[in-house]
Amino acid sequence: MPKQFSVQQVFDAVADKYDLMNSLMSFGLHHVWKNKFIAMIESYKTHILLDVAGGTGDIAMGFLNSGGGKATICDINNNMLIAGDKQRIDNGSFNKYKKNLSTVCGDAQDLPFEDNSFDRVTISFGIRNVESIQKALDEMFRVTKVGGKFLCMEFLRPQSDTITRQIYDFFSFNCIPIIGKIVIGDEKPYEYLVDSIRAFPKTDDFIKMIKKSGFEMIKITVLLNDVVAIYSAYRIF
Ligand SMILES: C[S@@+](CC[C@H](N)C(=O)[O-])C[C@H]1O[C@@H](n2cnc3c(N)ncnc32)[C@H](O)[C@@H]1O
Repeated sequence: MPKQFSVQQVFDAVADKYDLMNSLMSFGLHHVWKNKFIAMIESYKTHILLDVAGGTGDIAMGFLNSGGGKATICDINNNMLIAGDKQRIDNGSFNKYKKNLSTVCGDAQDLPFEDNSFDRVTISFGIRNVESIQKALDEMFRVTKVGGKFLCMEFLRPQSDTITRQIYDFFSFNCIPIIGKIVIGDEKPYEYLVDSIRAFPKTDDFIKMIKKSGFEMIKITVLLNDVVAIYSAYRIF
């Protein structure tokens, strides 16, 4: 089955409960990881951010709340974008964001934006879901302004035997699909999401792909003892 087809089905199935499931699956740690990620964006009032595979918009809102200028959330799944808008309406923050936050339904591998358009381009827990990771990286490089910064956060493919890693792997491979069954009534979307962590390229190979797309000064910051990584890089030319 092509990845894109199953990814569409997965996120259609989870859109309404996506944020609740994230909190349950990570024991709330995803807020800590996202706060770290948002701090690394280095937001300024003049900056325009593109958050690719942005889902319900945590990163884009975090960027605006930490001093960023304007943000666009791009996601291939309209239901995820709608779920984000619905949350902002329900919690009364829609008007606060509406001037500086826009949503665009689009594919990371064929971004509907001009070259050289964004000061900051981010992708958080989205790159492992795209059909061609290299195409998505090339596209994110294309739309980043010269001098702009790229940030990517993703689960690390299991590659060490630390105790945190063992606990995390046991939990994710055994418990997450069960939580999915209880919360959204179906374990399959979460089996897919957990399996996609195992299928992600090894760290060195992923860094080579970032480099191949054109980004430079690539750095990796590992969180939770080898479970999550943030990759940062710049477009120099
Ligand atoms: C795990 S969610 C991450 C959402 C959000 N970035 C976060 O950190 O919570 C992955 C997102 O990637 C989106 N996605 C998957 N394939 C995509 C593609 N080819 N282009 C754009 N978005 C995609 C899904 O629709 C989903 O919203």
